[in-house]
Amino acid sequence: RKRVAILVSGRGSNMAALIDAAAEPDYPAEIVAVISNRPGAGALAVAARAGVPTSIIDHKAFASREAFDVALDAELSRIAPDVVCFAGFMRLLTPGFIDRWEGRMLNIHPALLPSFKGLDTHARALAAGVKLHGCTVHLVTAEMDAGPIIAQAAVPVLDGDDESSLAARVLAAEHLLYPRALAMWARGTARLEDGRVRFGPEPEDSGLL
Ligand code: GAR
Repeated sequence: RKRVAILVSGRGSNMAALIDAAAEPDYPAEIVAVISNRPGAGALAVAARAGVPTSIIDHKAFASREAFDVALDAELSRIAPDVVCFAGFMRLLTPGFIDRWEGRMLNIHPALLPSFKGLDTHARALAAGVKLHGCTVHLVTAEMDAGPIIAQAAVPVLDGDDESSLAARVLAAEHLLYPRALAMWARGTARLEDGRVRFGPEPEDSGLL
């Protein structure tokens, strides 16, 4: 089983979905650590209750982005995960850090990339009038929300949706998509080839939920 560390900043519902999936005996990955950059993140209590070791690296305790990233790198090097899953981790990382971990970092983003990179994706999707919205699991690279896409799930935007109803519909899809994408990545049925994620060997393997 691949060793997975999860980075969080907040509530941790995607982290919980990964922990729950990894509790199944045939899941190809185990969650070995959860790291938060916020001491008050709700995710920490959820992880602790599930018996996953947690640590806090408070970005406010560091004078610079570089110093925070050095501490995060040191903690990850100690844990030595095969995969690092960002789950509502709201920090941009320096190129030096990305260089060291590139190819091993996955992120979930609450939009169908390459649309709506960055923050406030649901409000922006509503403002744009799109009829399909969703979520994306992708590899983390130096450019924000632009790494190779592993998997996506689409949900409809309904008349009468507001930001919270749309966010809830997308979040439910995130909780299905992320464990599935991590499983394909950990098994090697999704892998990077020439800068894109390819699937196989089974015909039903794909990045669509
Ligand atoms: C999720 O919707 C995730 O996709 C999003 O934050 C939420 C975290 O919720 N991530 C980003 O916006 C990354 N820039 P969670 O803590 O309950 O998983």
